[in-house]
Amino acid sequence: SNGLVGRDFMSLKHFRGEDIKQFLWTAKDLKTRMKDNGEIFQPLKGKTAALIFQKRSTRTRMSTELGMAKLGGHAAFMGPEDVHIGVNESVKDTARVLSGMADIILARVYGQDFLDELADEASIPVISGLSDLLHPLQILADFMTLQEHFGYLRGLKIAWIGDGNNILHSLMYGCAKLGVDLNVATPTGYEPDVNITEEAMKIAGKTGANFMMGNDPIQAVYRADAIVTDTWVSMGQEEEKKKRINDFAGYQINRKMLKEAGANWVFLHCLPRKQEEVTDDIFYSEESLVWQEAENRMWTVMAVMLHLLQPYTPVNPMPKF
Ligand code: CP
Ligand code: NVA
Repeated sequence: SNGLVGRDFMSLKHFRGEDIKQFLWTAKDLKTRMKDNGEIFQPLKGKTAALIFQKRSTRTRMSTELGMAKLGGHAAFMGPEDVHIGVNESVKDTARVLSGMADIILARVYGQDFLDELADEASIPVISGLSDLLHPLQILADFMTLQEHFGYLRGLKIAWIGDGNNILHSLMYGCAKLGVDLNVATPTGYEPDVNITEEAMKIAGKTGANFMMGNDPIQAVYRADAIVTDTWVSMGQEEEKKKRINDFAGYQINRKMLKEAGANWVFLHCLPRKQEEVTDDIFYSEESLVWQEAENRMWTVMAVMLHLLQPYTPVNPMPKF
């Protein structure tokens, strides 16, 4: 097996570069088999996933429910109005109950602590579907999309322009592990978490990924292959909206900002997108890979669920990473 069976999927920090490549290889393999070749492939027949969502979601929920169904399994969804957890039942008790019924849990939460406790108390694998701190599934989809587009990952240069948020944190771990260069420009006061930055840069030092952390978008996009951003107002920050939009002035991604980007730059955004952070003429352009990126959320979460539940060897050759 690949040493992934039975593990939790909480943060890319916990996985070796080789493990991340395995998830990406399997995701591409499943896409080739099931989408391109139309194969029915149901290795998870009889398996079930329990989904707990404290926050809204389109992609994470659909990719998991539909992906599980495609693999022959079944997913059951509980939204914030449905589940006792955190209201009148403890995380510990919920984790034990779900461990008796399901084969895997995926949870989208506010605090990372909540997710960590769930993973500790559950006897089945737990997958992060986003917390305020991290969103590792999103970064698998981003890397899969870049690999499909460029044909490789190592040596690419990514520019992140925007908030130092959950997506950036996972992107930092991912780039560090895979040896992908990363330039970051956030407004002052919106830098990524200091501990995560330190950890990621330490890993980057070992793999040879170059990180540049700063506050200047023009400098960050210089010769970048992929320009990446996210909303300036994440879920749970709605009341800070006015202040944030003010503080992020000058960080909207537009053609003028990208004058000195790499010759063949592409644009990524995890979605949902707001108009503030990127102009329509980029978001809906040929250079924008956002729809492919959203679709790849499904193939990547399928790969994660499959590997955490049973050994799997792709039938298609490994892509170049
Ligand atoms: N990108 C992402 O996680 O989207 P959802 O909030 O729709 O799940
Ligand atoms: N940073 C965003 C990502 C949404 C997928 C949020 O946490 O709301």
